[in-house]
Amino acid sequence: MKPGRFITFEGIDGAGKSSQIAQAVEWLRERGHAVLETREPGGTALAETLRELVLHQPMDALTEALLVFAARRDHLAQRIEPALAAGQTVVCDRFTDASFAYQGAGRGFDRGVLAQLEAWVQQGRQPDLTLWFDLPAAVAAERRAAVRSPDRFERQDLAFFERVRAGYAARCAEHGARFRRVDALGSRQQVWADVQAALAATGWW
Ligand code: TYD
Repeated sequence: MKPGRFITFEGIDGAGKSSQIAQAVEWLRERGHAVLETREPGGTALAETLRELVLHQPMDALTEALLVFAARRDHLAQRIEPALAAGQTVVCDRFTDASFAYQGAGRGFDRGVLAQLEAWVQQGRQPDLTLWFDLPAAVAAERRAAVRSPDRFERQDLAFFERVRAGYAARCAEHGARFRRVDALGSRQQVWADVQAALAATGWW
């Protein structure tokens, strides 16, 4: 059996990941692949409960980091690892790069502690491909303003999101082999063309 592939989608809030994820999942299913479409924080009943807390309850940065990694531990053990073991493609809306970008770069939380949590929780597991939707914080803020009522992260100011963006750029530089930067400024069709090209270029499908 071919190994399952683990694909993650990342970017600041408002970068336009959601519609691209839906299209990527459809593209993979059309090619006959069994796809687990999931998200973080979340993906299991316990992790979805933790998500509610993280997005809506006041807490300090360490508590936030512990909760996102607790959710991740449950999600990996209950859903992601079994799906990969069964040869499925896992498409996940955010993963640990978001912890380095939001908790690390955004909140200024200790990256050494995040790296330790990453090692404990993931036991060496990393995404095979990460599509990073990059765009300036000001553009993302305009896009967000049009659509939804903000959670604890979405209420942060532009400077926070520029730090998060820089956090993603740093992860992209460190983990270049699995990262693909997608310019999220383009139209939905242009962005999809880039996503499709990045998926096809892996040679996995
Ligand atoms: P998001 O994935 O953007 O969902 P929605 O599209 O429903 O708003 O929201 C999840 C939020 O959680 C996002 O603001 C980033 C944050 N987050 C972290 O701070 N750390 C993490 O490790 C993860 C996975 C997400």
